[in-house]
Amino acid sequence: MIIVKNLTKNFVRNTQRFDAVHDVSFHVKEGEFAAVIGHSGSGKTTLFNMIAGLTKPTAGKILIHGSDLTQMSDKQQATFRNQNIGYVLQGQSLLNNFTILDNICMPAYFSSTIDIFRERALQLLNEIGLEELAKEYPSNLSGGEMRRVSIVRAMMNHPKVILADEPTSNLDPENSHKVMQMLKDISQKGTTVLLSTHELEYLDYVDSVFKMSKGNLMDS
Ligand SMILES: Nc1ncnc2c1ncn2[C@@H]1O[C@H](COP(=O)(O)OP(=O)(O)OP(=O)(O)O)[C@@H](O)[C@H]1O
Ligand SMILES: [Mg+2]
Repeated sequence: MIIVKNLTKNFVRNTQRFDAVHDVSFHVKEGEFAAVIGHSGSGKTTLFNMIAGLTKPTAGKILIHGSDLTQMSDKQQATFRNQNIGYVLQGQSLLNNFTILDNICMPAYFSSTIDIFRERALQLLNEIGLEELAKEYPSNLSGGEMRRVSIVRAMMNHPKVILADEPTSNLDPENSHKVMQMLKDISQKGTTVLLSTHELEYLDYVDSVFKMSKGNLMDS
């Protein structure tokens, strides 16, 4: 469960202060699939970065499964993120010089659990029919395949929450439907999923929709 209370992020640009996210409150229940919609610049990525503990809020609270992220030190936040949150970043975030399997297993590279990681990665790829891509490099994949691999990577640590920032951007309808179905399946297995999008045609998949405009959450 994600609870966001009176969340604000203030930036300074050209000596002017502005709220990229202004006094935003909402919650997403356990196993719910929710979408944040809004035009470019409305504050979606800033909001997600705060929920992931990557950007410090100017004001407000973020509770994930009862733990208050805003009360944690940077180190505690990093540990909490690794254990509880899978973040699919906006855009392409796979490393070009590593295979798909190595990209997915990167966090466990130097750990003794690498074999368990590899097994889980192959199993997750298998579930979405992409197991034959394990030894390929990202440049040999389609945009839709790369996006689904990024979701697999975010799933590796059995997170309680998945954040997916515009996972369907620049994809054709067929691949967008595959990504949405994959995220829906993940939520139906009990993981809380929050995605952002400005493509309204895929909202049939989600349980709830939050609309942002210029940093504010609108009634939707
Ligand atoms: N580090 C920063 N410093 C100053 N301004 C920033 C910073 N990060 C984002 N902004 C500004 O905050 C606003 C919200 O940006 P954000 O990236 O959250 O929007 P978005 O809804 O994700 O847009 P898009 O749909 O294009 O990804 C924009 O006006 C952006 O220029
Ligand atoms: Mg964004």
